[in-house]
Amino acid sequence: MTWFDAPADAATRLEAAGYLADAATATTTYLAGALEKPLLLEGPAGVGKTELAKAVSRATGADLVRLQCYEGLDEARALYEWNYKKQLLRIQAANAGGSGEGVDWDATHDDIFSEEFLLTRPLLTAIRREQPTVLLIDEVDKTDIEVEGLLLEVLSDFQVTIPELGTVAATRRPFVVLTSNASRELSEAVKRRCLYLHIDYPDAARERQILQSQVPDLDDRIAEQLVATVGRLRELELKKAPSIAESVDWARTLIALEIRDLDAKAIADTLGAVLKHQSDHERAVKELKLARS
Ligand SMILES: Nc1ncnc2c1ncn2[C@@H]1O[C@H](COP(=O)(O)OP(=O)(O)OP(=O)(O)O)[C@@H](O)[C@H]1O
Ligand SMILES: [Mg+2]
Repeated sequence: MTWFDAPADAATRLEAAGYLADAATATTTYLAGALEKPLLLEGPAGVGKTELAKAVSRATGADLVRLQCYEGLDEARALYEWNYKKQLLRIQAANAGGSGEGVDWDATHDDIFSEEFLLTRPLLTAIRREQPTVLLIDEVDKTDIEVEGLLLEVLSDFQVTIPELGTVAATRRPFVVLTSNASRELSEAVKRRCLYLHIDYPDAARERQILQSQVPDLDDRIAEQLVATVGRLRELELKKAPSIAESVDWARTLIALEIRDLDAKAIADTLGAVLKHQSDHERAVKELKLARS
């Protein structure tokens, strides 16, 4: 299948799916589909990396298969594992039904390492699906480096080797998106197989557009004030700069409180929606010269 016809087509359909992509994002997303290459998205928290994968799935009608990465993620959780309990039951049943002279071990072995006893995990699931699929490998920098070895076979050959069953190759290549906060460098081998896109905080105009689409009740003037303030906060050396998700939360907070003007006092009163560390809070109050409520 062709995922998108052109960069402009990607931009339009992503927008219809609720995702406002800038030119670089639209182009790279189009290319990832056209070249059937995995797309590696890197950038700070909350800038829309995970959301882009979800938006591609909505825009193309493909199902989303998600592998959430974490420390300690292993093959059994990422690829497949054998259903030991069921295998044991089958062995016991074979023993009980035997003639007493022992059972044919080879036959039992072949039996219990067959499809029926396989539990597929996201990577294998995505490879085997016959319908269009978006495979999201989320927060890949959170795994141990060994897991990248597992990913390589999937990312470069779109196949998975199961010793007892053989190699399973994709009948239809999934649209693969990897996301990373760059908490560690990914291996060169993984990077080489991917298209790379750095997603950063949006410019003021795009952030206003995102707010308009997600919080339609927000009036233009306050949206402008909010985006300008978030921009100033991002320039401070904070532990955690406010992301798009926090701008959206802030907009909803202002509406809930019926605040119509984002003056210093209003900012100080609602800062908890945007800054989640006490030290960031104090710094913002000081640097933006906010009145303490
Ligand atoms: N371009 C965009 N268009 C529309 N909404 C966006 C866009 N970028 C971000 N958002 C909004 O920001 C929220 C946070 O984005 P997302 O969860 O994808 O961040 P992330 O980059 O994956 O962050 P993390 O690294 O913390 O996982 C989304 O739920 C979405 O509402
Ligand atoms: Mg994410």
